Amino acid sequence: MIPVLSVENLTKMYGPKKVVNNVTFSLFPGQIFGFVGPNGAGKSTTIRMITGLTLPTKGSIRICGYSISKSFKKAIENVGAVVEMPQLYPYLSGLKNLKLYAKFYNKAATKRIPQIVKLVGMENRIKDRVSTYSLGMKQRLGIAQALLNKPKLLILDEPTNGLDPNGIVEMRNILKVLAEKENIAIIISSHNLAELEHTCDVIGLINDGRLIEYKTMQEINKIIENKQRIQFICNYPNYAALQIKKKYNLPCKVVGNSVIVPLKENNLAVVVSYLTYKKIKIYSIKKIQKSLEELYFELLNSSRPSSSIL
Ligand SMILES: Nc1ncnc2c1ncn2[C@@H]1O[C@H](COP(=O)(O)OP(=O)(O)OP(=O)(O)O)[C@@H](O)[C@H]1O
Ligand SMILES: [Mg+2]
Repeated sequence: MIPVLSVENLTKMYGPKKVVNNVTFSLFPGQIFGFVGPNGAGKSTTIRMITGLTLPTKGSIRICGYSISKSFKKAIENVGAVVEMPQLYPYLSGLKNLKLYAKFYNKAATKRIPQIVKLVGMENRIKDRVSTYSLGMKQRLGIAQALLNKPKLLILDEPTNGLDPNGIVEMRNILKVLAEKENIAIIISSHNLAELEHTCDVIGLINDGRLIEYKTMQEINKIIENKQRIQFICNYPNYAALQIKKKYNLPCKVVGNSVIVPLKENNLAVVVSYLTYKKIKIYSIKKIQKSLEELYFELLNSSRPSSSIL
């Protein structure tokens, strides 16, 4: 299968500074790629190169097999993008905005408007003026605008920035429909890691211009599972820790009236029976799981450049 997007050794220099440094990754139909990293890491610059807004210093970008430098038009006609705030005419209705933009493309784009309006869930408000829209509605209209050209790749730079929790969930649902039903590949750059965890199939972490991790959500979930800890709140935590160490050779940590053990759920029953057999009273059992956000900070804070925790 040809990737919708393939980026190879992509590099951008501003003066002597490499703001994007040898970035390589591919994206396939229906995949949602979450692009994360601290402020100034190089997300928007990478996105600007993929959307043709700025030229790479080095490296290649292919969209649906077409090189953006050699066949710009053929490559870029497969891309729809909302980079930061969508550009909309506030005194026109949402529908008029879409009709205006559709004219840049072809008649087919105008014909698709009702279907797109439905996809982004704006049927009830599309005839109202954009100036009366909430931020979430403006973002949805921006996505509708980006879909007019029937793109195979949709690029959204911080689409949930400023949205309330309700708006974030709505945005997630729209993106999932676009990926699952329309088979569109989507890139989202965002600082909302909890949200990306629920939306994305792949996560790429960029720091200082380098793509330091590129993992599927399954791989990330496996890592999170392996880092899982179980907390037993019990009457004799020090004694419990000693027993677990002796019997199972597991590193235990005593915190207050509890003992914390790196333990998989399928081994839990055995340990519980053993502690009960040792006359330890267990008052409660809690699963302690890392979030994507915690993994992200672990990685960024790690001082060794070659280390990898994802
Ligand atoms: N036109 C430009 N001229 C010079 N430097 C630039 C230019 N555009 C971006 N930069 C620099 O490139 C680096 C990467 O910026 P970029 O906007 O890609 O980061 P980002 O990951 O999108 O950050 P944020 O999360 O804040 O949006 C920053 O150090 C920025 O100052
Ligand atoms: Mg940015």
